Amino acid sequence: MSTHNDDFPTDDPAVVTCGLPYANGDLHIGHLRGYIGADAFNRALQTLGQETAYVCGSDMHGTPVAVNAEQEGVNPEDFALEWHDQYAETFPQFNVEFDNYGHTHDETNTELTQEIVRTLDEQGYIYEKEIQVAYDPDADQYLPDRYVEGTCPYCGEKARGDECDEGCQRHLEPGEVEDPTSTITGNPAEYRERTHKFFEVSEFADFLTEFLDGLEGTSNARNQPRQWIEDGLQDWCITRDMDWGIDYPTAEGEDESDLVLYVWVDAPIEYIASTKQYSERVGTDEYDWEQVWKGEGEIVHIIGRDIIQHHTIFWPAMLEGADYNKPRGIAATGFITINGKGLSTSRNRAIWAKEYLDEGFHPDLLRYYLTTTGGLQQDVDFSWDAFQEKVNGELVGTVGNFWYRSLLFAYRNYEGTPDADVSEEVHERIQDAIADARAAVNDYDLRGIGQSAVELAQFGNEYIQRNEPWKLTDEEPETAAQVIRDCVQIAKAVGVLIEPIAPDKARRLWEQLGEDGEVADALLEDALEAPPRNFEEPGELFEKIEDDRVAELNEKLEERVAEAEDDEDEETESDDTAADEADDMADADVDDLEPLADDRISFDDFQELDIRVGRIESAEGIEGADDLARLEVDIGFETRQIVAGIKQLHDLDELPGEKCVLLANMEQAELFGVESNGMILAAGEEADLLTTHGDAEVGEKIR
Ligand code: MF3
Ligand code: ZN
Repeated sequence: MSTHNDDFPTDDPAVVTCGLPYANGDLHIGHLRGYIGADAFNRALQTLGQETAYVCGSDMHGTPVAVNAEQEGVNPEDFALEWHDQYAETFPQFNVEFDNYGHTHDETNTELTQEIVRTLDEQGYIYEKEIQVAYDPDADQYLPDRYVEGTCPYCGEKARGDECDEGCQRHLEPGEVEDPTSTITGNPAEYRERTHKFFEVSEFADFLTEFLDGLEGTSNARNQPRQWIEDGLQDWCITRDMDWGIDYPTAEGEDESDLVLYVWVDAPIEYIASTKQYSERVGTDEYDWEQVWKGEGEIVHIIGRDIIQHHTIFWPAMLEGADYNKPRGIAATGFITINGKGLSTSRNRAIWAKEYLDEGFHPDLLRYYLTTTGGLQQDVDFSWDAFQEKVNGELVGTVGNFWYRSLLFAYRNYEGTPDADVSEEVHERIQDAIADARAAVNDYDLRGIGQSAVELAQFGNEYIQRNEPWKLTDEEPETAAQVIRDCVQIAKAVGVLIEPIAPDKARRLWEQLGEDGEVADALLEDALEAPPRNFEEPGELFEKIEDDRVAELNEKLEERVAEAEDDEDEETESDDTAADEADDMADADVDDLEPLADDRISFDDFQELDIRVGRIESAEGIEGADDLARLEVDIGFETRQIVAGIKQLHDLDELPGEKCVLLANMEQAELFGVESNGMILAAGEEADLLTTHGDAEVGEKIR
């Protein structure tokens, strides 16, 4: 049975949220993907005329904050507040504009959380149970969640106390992780009996099944929880033996509880609390949080795929139990990889928010890259090369180029928008783009939103090319005016369509067109409204990223990762993904490696090395020499005789036909009476021969 929602825009207010960042460290591209994605989606909803609020807040509690604060030797509250302030400052720099950005430790959230838990208790959904909790006798401390590590009982991967972060992504209950050790001392954990509070999630199985049937968003957010429900739902322990957190609420006259709520109880409630704060600020006439959360409203969560279970099982069960509205859509994003490898903060293999801005890149470029590389659900690989390619091709080459050439032509010849009507063809093409964008929003398809804009710009470029207005201005002034009129309209439409993704660039285009008001307030239909008659000389809005910039950025990243690997102890902080671990299996222990050269050589020096692709024609041992072989190597121009120390390490019969890489201008030498005229390149204990893997031909120079 599937409940069908009306398409956006609806008559009811919407709220768009994204997963709360733990206030415990620097923001990086992995975070940004979610916040930018949700921001773009929220803006896109507004272009349909949907009333929305975009809210979030910092996640202040739990062991992710407590453990890191302890390492820094500060109290968790000060520690988290400092990060919170930094986040609140950083988001707007990426044009991520929350209507409210609160935090889970503020009064609104504390009160609302306690109220909701009390309601769940009154409704009979909470019970007490004695359980065995991990304890570290040396640290004299209980070991909730990230204070303990072990093996996931479901998939066998290394796991944290409450989540299988490197494997199956499941939430783990206290006591579930196998072979637990304390992350404070490394001791095996002991167990002690404690009384804790449980939320009866198992009661909600039928409700959740039905809820998932009607849920919009990405398919992973529906399918994974279906499996979990089928496997049987467990009740959920919602308290922890910790000081830092929101106290478990007690009835009046009752002793204060020495338990705090598990962080995953109060964190999502911040979605409601933050909406409430927004409402209180602007007034309920303008936006009514209670209508959204308790009356009729459209709730959309954009989250990372590692927190699907919390949002599709625990959260809707809590909302149902406490009589709140449930989300209409949940979109779960994939992970980010960097140059094909897992993002790893401990290895410094990440693009940091601050770093990106310090490099002087415009935020809208990253917004574009992150929202339109793959769909929301796919993993996205980031590399500076791919970034350059996308920016130079789609933004500079297509959108920027079209905007500039059409507005400049219009300005020079007509001082603005020529007096003519938009042609039927162009009117229809813009209408199609609007329809594409509208459909994309309803499909939670950010990429489709971007495509509707870029494809329209591409059409615009073709349209100019096809009509060649520069040839018409003298001979056929009316046709010329008509063509440019069309182009100015297309330029404006591209601005309206791309605003959710590149809001600042769109704003500047709006200014260039001399439009009143804000492009952020424009509706998709406004793409068909005539721009002002006159505007000023336009400027270029996008700038090409040069090759040497990319080379420099790649080098910086490589050096940084190498440095982090150098400093790294054996054991890594465990936010590395499984893929990352697999990658590292082929890596040598850094301590065994020859240190990197300190002295740099110039490009010219490098050019002096004449390194070539060759093909081995024959290989035979040299008598009297234990490990030397005599090779004949084809290097395109000629065949060289080369002596190489590979006799023991290779089956010489296998070598003929193999491609190899050699230094062709190595000075000549004589070894065991055999002349050597070049040097074969190899690495490692087994003299692993370097080679090429693509279309490089014999004789080509390596550069
Ligand atoms: N802080 C959590 C994380 O980074 C996300 C909390 S999202 C919310 O994994 F639903 F709890 F709000
Ligand atoms: Zn697992």
